[in-house]
Amino acid sequence: MLVELTLLVVAELGFVEGVVYEVIAVSFSSKPHPAPIGVRFKDGLFEATIYHDTATYANLKVHPMCTLNVVRSGLLFYDAVYMKHKLRVMREGDYWFLADADAWLGVTVVEESPDRGRSVFKFKPSMLHLSQVKPKPYTRADGALVEMLVHESRIKPYIDSGLLVEAKRLYDLIVHYNELMARIAQNTEYQAYAKAIYESATRRMGELKGG
Ligand SMILES: Cc1cc2nc3c(=O)[nH]c(=O)nc-3n(C[C@H](O)[C@H](O)[C@H](O)COP(=O)(O)O)c2cc1C
Repeated sequence: MLVELTLLVVAELGFVEGVVYEVIAVSFSSKPHPAPIGVRFKDGLFEATIYHDTATYANLKVHPMCTLNVVRSGLLFYDAVYMKHKLRVMREGDYWFLADADAWLGVTVVEESPDRGRSVFKFKPSMLHLSQVKPKPYTRADGALVEMLVHESRIKPYIDSGLLVEAKRLYDLIVHYNELMARIAQNTEYQAYAKAIYESATRRMGELKGG
């Protein structure tokens, strides 16, 4: 059963192992509670780091289950932080989910490892629900990669025009996104591409120093 669900998570939901995806978790205590969290899929389980000072954490301690809702719009993440009441929640069995999710997974906690004000939770998927839309889980890695590409493409023109402060500013952003990628997409194609862009930008800046 778990093996089948694992295949579905990868094939139908598009989760790539090792990449952090942002989803909206709906946990539950006296009422359902949506909040964005980052999850990583690995060896058939989802992993999330949840801070102890959040309502999501308190809820999971009471009901060790929640849904992970796949959404694609940044606006829904905004609502999940600041306008929770705007999100439409529905119930199926023991699970509360977002009515507007492209897909949702019902998961249960199988392990909690506390570490200085936060805990790494491992969740086992036990239920998968797809809507009509082909889901595409949201990862910051896509945005970061495109930002790196855009910035790298401007470094040479800036250097050629003598705009060295501007070139350095873009290089610093590339360094920042490269570090982010190492955290959210370690040992993936995303990280390999980010590294290639970072190295190309570093070479350009190095030539500048050398010349
Ligand atoms: C895209 C995004 C991802 C987030 N990921 C996490 C996370 O992985 N763990 C966490 O504890 N908080 C995360 N947060 C912060 C919580 O969602 C935010 O603090 C929340 O509104 C408070 O949680 P609560 O409503 O459960 O108290 C994230 C926020 C955003 C916008």
